[in-house]
Amino acid sequence: MPDPKQIYYGGDYNPDQWPENIWQEDMRLFRLAGVNLVTLPVFSWAKLQPDEDHYDFTWLDRILDLLHENGIAVCLATPTAAQPAWMSRRYPDILPVDEQGRKRTHGKRVNICPNSPSFRRFSREIARRMADRYSRHPALAMWHVANEYGTYCYCENCEAAFRTWLRNRYKTVDELNDRWNTAFWGHTIYEWDEIVVPSERNDDNKWYQPIMLDYLRFMTDANIACFNNEADVLRAATPEIPVMTNMSGFIKKIDQFKMTASMDIVGWDNYPSPKDDRSLIAFKHDLMRGLKGGQSYLMVEQSPGQQNWQPYNVLKRPGEVRRLSFQAIAHGSDSVLYFQLRQSVAGVEKFHAALIAHAGHEETRVFRECARIGAECRRLGDAVTGARSPARVGILFDWDNWWALELSSGPSRDLQYLPTVVQYYKAFHERNIPVDVLPYSADFNNYDLLITPLMYLQKPGVADRITRFVRDGGHLLTSFFSGLVDENDRVILGGYPGGLRDVLGIWVEETDALLPGAANSMRIVAPDDYLQGPYRCSLLCDLVHLRGARALAVYGEDFYAGMPCLTEHDFGRGKAWYVATAAEDRLLADLAGKIIDQLGLKAPLEVPQGVEVTRRVKEGRDVLFVISHLMDETTIDLGPGPRTELLTGAQLRGSVTLPAGDVLVLQNTRNSQ
Ligand code: GLA
Ligand code: ZN
Repeated sequence: MPDPKQIYYGGDYNPDQWPENIWQEDMRLFRLAGVNLVTLPVFSWAKLQPDEDHYDFTWLDRILDLLHENGIAVCLATPTAAQPAWMSRRYPDILPVDEQGRKRTHGKRVNICPNSPSFRRFSREIARRMADRYSRHPALAMWHVANEYGTYCYCENCEAAFRTWLRNRYKTVDELNDRWNTAFWGHTIYEWDEIVVPSERNDDNKWYQPIMLDYLRFMTDANIACFNNEADVLRAATPEIPVMTNMSGFIKKIDQFKMTASMDIVGWDNYPSPKDDRSLIAFKHDLMRGLKGGQSYLMVEQSPGQQNWQPYNVLKRPGEVRRLSFQAIAHGSDSVLYFQLRQSVAGVEKFHAALIAHAGHEETRVFRECARIGAECRRLGDAVTGARSPARVGILFDWDNWWALELSSGPSRDLQYLPTVVQYYKAFHERNIPVDVLPYSADFNNYDLLITPLMYLQKPGVADRITRFVRDGGHLLTSFFSGLVDENDRVILGGYPGGLRDVLGIWVEETDALLPGAANSMRIVAPDDYLQGPYRCSLLCDLVHLRGARALAVYGEDFYAGMPCLTEHDFGRGKAWYVATAAEDRLLADLAGKIIDQLGLKAPLEVPQGVEVTRRVKEGRDVLFVISHLMDETTIDLGPGPRTELLTGAQLRGSVTLPAGDVLVLQNTRNSQ
């Protein structure tokens, strides 16, 4: 992805939902708001292709020219997330069969079978025609394929494709029987054709984890194939133009490390709920940056105000969109893009905010705030586009692990991967220690500390690589319910946590699941400046035996009172910690404090609690983002400086007042490494 030289600012635009006489007014308002990029025509396939043999691109030609005349670039979307009704009717293989086994009728969007031959043929054809027509259009800045992939299908085409996929993966039926442990409940097969999709018609999606795990992998691959089916023709026409898609903020459905490997730049849609902890939003941004090894990404959508699909659609408070926008840039986004630019007149999204509200003019709170952000993005110029975000701490995240863990029947239905990972992340993020989110395949040697909460599923070689990393001087922080199964959800025998036993210096005999509301306590064996306790713990309690590690804390209650629940192990030149239970935030915060000091990790700037700071580096120059999440003003110390505040141009040093909810973007006047 070439450095965009500016923060992309704008978003989804649906001019085909409006009479053309409004387009001129749109241009005036876009310019006023600082819009420099619009995404279209995401859902306009029916308008672009009225029937099988006819296409009508004339209106799209006109709007692209108009945008270009107004100095606005285009993120050109293939419209394949919503196929025309005639297509579904004539080629019903396009319509998916849902998990309950029901053949869906035409409607909504992303309502496709990802293995449908007709869908593949028609979507490739419209992509090819768009590439032919617009590859030299001066407004074209990037390609956006379809919208928020994520359909699972259970139709006959998918079933056949699943069998082929399994054949490629396992080669022989015997190997599949072994890997799926089909001897359990008589699942043994003798012919590939005996495999059926794990829908609710047979309930294997609840009762048979090995098949479900592979189905999720297969559906990821099928959705990626749909993306590549179009991306290939776009790339052939315009090798220099990046191709991406916008991934849903509901990130569980598709393995996004795999998905983004096919994309030139990561794109995602950021729709936090008002109840989300700010660490969750920060984590998702860091995850997006991590998907392509630290490369900057695009925030392709966020709402400039109210949403419509939350149960309660709280207005974004004054300053909130600005704070969320700069938080995105602070974590690695090269864009601030909205859904959408003009608010719909009808349909399910008529109460979803837009840059241009139903009032139709610029005198609205939302427009004013967006125009301010647009002007500020322009002032930032290319100071941070494409910048890197150096980090010494890496947190591992893996989709197979996520799926397998939550598919597991027992020990507790309340076990959840994402919130647990975010809880560990938060302990470091709240101290403004930069964290990279890494795949299991990352080079661990670039880090001082690896955090691997709930590493339930062990991929081949990963435990060995982690063990070597610690032996050579690295540090590991991991949690309960780790190291249990292999890639096919088969338990690693010989005592938990499988391949991590040596590096952790423990073994786990059993895991107790606590009833809702029940708790145990963690008593610190030798309280120090960091760990005082007691701390509350709940959900799961591993019953741990020491094999070289020492106990930092023991359980306070129950028949396993006195058994270790937090351990530390010196291993080779490094150290490994194991948190054997779901500890309260305070324990993780205190433990993080201890580890941070032991490792000499530093925040980019010391600031009061509730102020977020990130550091980005471009061409040897540091840019610090300082974001207040506080309800009151506070004071921060910038040191002798001076630093240039890029949004205002002010030179700042020493003690500075930071108003509630405000943002500073500070460029060092000196160079860093
Ligand atoms: C999704 C879609 C958009 C729009 C928004 C509304 O992210 O990609 O088309 O529907 O939600 O929040
Ligand atoms: Zn299907």
